[in-house]
Amino acid sequence: MSTADAERREAARLPEGDVVAILLEQHARIRDLFEDVKSAEGEHKQQAFDELRALLAVHETAEEMIVRPVAQDTVSKQEAEARNHEEEEANKVLARLEKMEITSPEFDAQLMEFERSVSDHADHEEREEFPGVRAGRTEEQLRSMGTRLRAAEKIAPTHPHPSAAGSPAAQWTVGPFASLVDRTRDAINAATGG
Ligand SMILES: [Fe+2]
Ligand SMILES: [Fe+2]
Repeated sequence: MSTADAERREAARLPEGDVVAILLEQHARIRDLFEDVKSAEGEHKQQAFDELRALLAVHETAEEMIVRPVAQDTVSKQEAEARNHEEEEANKVLARLEKMEITSPEFDAQLMEFERSVSDHADHEEREEFPGVRAGRTEEQLRSMGTRLRAAEKIAPTHPHPSAAGSPAAQWTVGPFASLVDRTRDAINAATGG
């Protein structure tokens, strides 16, 4: 079974709307999108990469804002800081990556390195962070964290369709990664009333 399949199976075992279930589904989708970017060519490669960037912006920003504050209490401050640091480093690599020509060998080489770091980071979260977060919060609290995460997903569409070119959803994904992160942050704050 692939890692993505195992993550989907684990997510399906958790209660509907649980924040960790949604995060596991996103991890699986991120792994699939890396495969898509690696195997696709031309315009499809660009589309897959844009979808990957959009999903990573939503996912990592949501983890930082919704999961880390809880992990500080339920796991440890050091673990939470380590995960935030890995995300910051990954964001820097992605900012370099999106300036590269997508058809160049340099892009493919950098993408492989990026995939490894994102994957290692996700493994750490699944092993060291998610179990502690689930154990330290009630089902209701986990579902309400999930609701905030879903709100971010909705405002930051992660499934652009070719026919949607020029639509707000398609335009959303073409901005630089840093602006995707800013918009996700705004969406989560709005969903929290903050
Ligand atoms: Fe993360
Ligand atoms: Fe994650």
